[in-house]
Amino acid sequence: MMEILVAFYSRSGKTKKVAEAISDILKCDKEEIFDTKNRKEIPGFLSAGTDANLRRLTAIKEIKNNPSLYDLVIIGIPIWSSNISTPIRTYLSLCKEEFKKVAFFCTRLGSDSKKVFADMKNLSQKIPLALLELTSREVARDQYMQKVKEFIKNLKEETVK
Ligand SMILES: Cc1cc2nc3c(=O)[nH]c(=O)nc-3n(C[C@H](O)[C@H](O)[C@H](O)COP(=O)(O)O)c2cc1C
Repeated sequence: MMEILVAFYSRSGKTKKVAEAISDILKCDKEEIFDTKNRKEIPGFLSAGTDANLRRLTAIKEIKNNPSLYDLVIIGIPIWSSNISTPIRTYLSLCKEEFKKVAFFCTRLGSDSKKVFADMKNLSQKIPLALLELTSREVARDQYMQKVKEFIKNLKEETVK
């Protein structure tokens, strides 16, 4: 059986909701990434935007699950300033040697995810098996399960190839 991990960061719960839906369907492990830098309220929001825009790294809290023990790591982000959110940029930089296979998903207000997914591919040094993009609105309105199911179907088709 394939060992799968869903690794994600979520500042305000949207990406977490999708991560939980995916891990519930796949009955797999989850790794929530936490930033040691405060990202709450206005100063946190501003630092998040600046750090993502400048492609800075941060210090994340200790990772519990070693990605190298999984056949597939599904990585989820909120988009910040048209970029990978800083905690996941850090996770990808730290763990890039550890991934076997990857897939990506994101939540965002409306930005184009292509460039962000391409950046995640470069950082992880892996071609993703499948991609999923959702708007915060779809998540807030619980209109995301169809796309989540399609993503999982695509993943399953790719993993048997
Ligand atoms: C600092 C910051 C910058 C953001 N920049 C963008 C952006 O450039 N484009 C976009 O579509 N959404 C942007 N968003 C919106 C988030 O991507 C969106 O609300 C996301 O669903 C939040 O996920 P979360 O609840 O898991 O943190 C930004 C949010 C934050 C906090």
